[in-house]
Amino acid sequence: MLVSATEMLKKAKAGHYAVGQFNINNLEWTKAILQTAQELNSPVILGVSEGAGKYMCGYKTVVGMVNGMIDELNITVPVALHLDHGSYEHCYKCLEAGFSSIMFDGSHYPIDENVAKTTELVKAAHDKGVSIEAEVGAIGGEEDGVVGMGECADPNECKAIADLGVDFLAAGIGNIHGKYPANWQGLSFETLDAIQQLTGDLPLVLHGGTGIPADMIKKAISLGVAKINVNTECQLAFAAATRKYIEEGKDNQGKGYDPRKLLAPGFEAIKATVKEKMELFGSVGKA
Ligand code: 13P
Repeated sequence: MLVSATEMLKKAKAGHYAVGQFNINNLEWTKAILQTAQELNSPVILGVSEGAGKYMCGYKTVVGMVNGMIDELNITVPVALHLDHGSYEHCYKCLEAGFSSIMFDGSHYPIDENVAKTTELVKAAHDKGVSIEAEVGAIGGEEDGVVGMGECADPNECKAIADLGVDFLAAGIGNIHGKYPANWQGLSFETLDAIQQLTGDLPLVLHGGTGIPADMIKKAISLGVAKINVNTECQLAFAAATRKYIEEGKDNQGKGYDPRKLLAPGFEAIKATVKEKMELFGSVGKA
């Protein structure tokens, strides 16, 4: 059964570890992430961007697939199905479809409008027992066509949004989606510290988990980060494993092309990536 992400993230913040949000794009990714979480006895959050939701035929299909897998793969660890960077309209679509968690990305609205829309969505989500994440300060890089600059959030704005009753908060601290540029300045721990001082026990979220050095990940967790999002690293691992398989000519066995065999190395590569991240984030054994 899907659960909201609230409890698992409260436990993570109190226990000084982070739960991974791994984005899903298809059946293979979803199965790989769920099986790894179960094998490592780790809680997990499946992230779905609006683009990935559309690709997978819509949110109802995603909910059906994930619920079916939880049942048929005997997944007993806590699993949250979370809308990643949701617009106002798509938050409602996911609430309707049966997601257990949503993110409202109102960071591009003026603060007053972000406050008004977040307040409304907090109520709508909590009425259904669904957790809600908000974002303050755009996160850099490009995701589904949304480009952010990697700015640092204003801690007072974070406090204002936290006070609206959101369950966890993503704050820009210089993090970027995708690969980090060579001249990246690193995470701003000063900003993170100031945000945590003002928001207390609220679990904080680090987007752009790909390519952040392990020591920075650990420091961010020590300063209140309880959820870390990873997408690009799984994409890179999946693509590299698939490419290698094809280049070695293993996909053509003279009997046609079996998509299950073609996608198997990528599936294993995702499992290995998720395992490595769960170990780094400290969520192994915490289900
Ligand atoms: P990466 O693609 O950089 O891992 O970031 C994922 C993310 O933050 C999804 O919201």
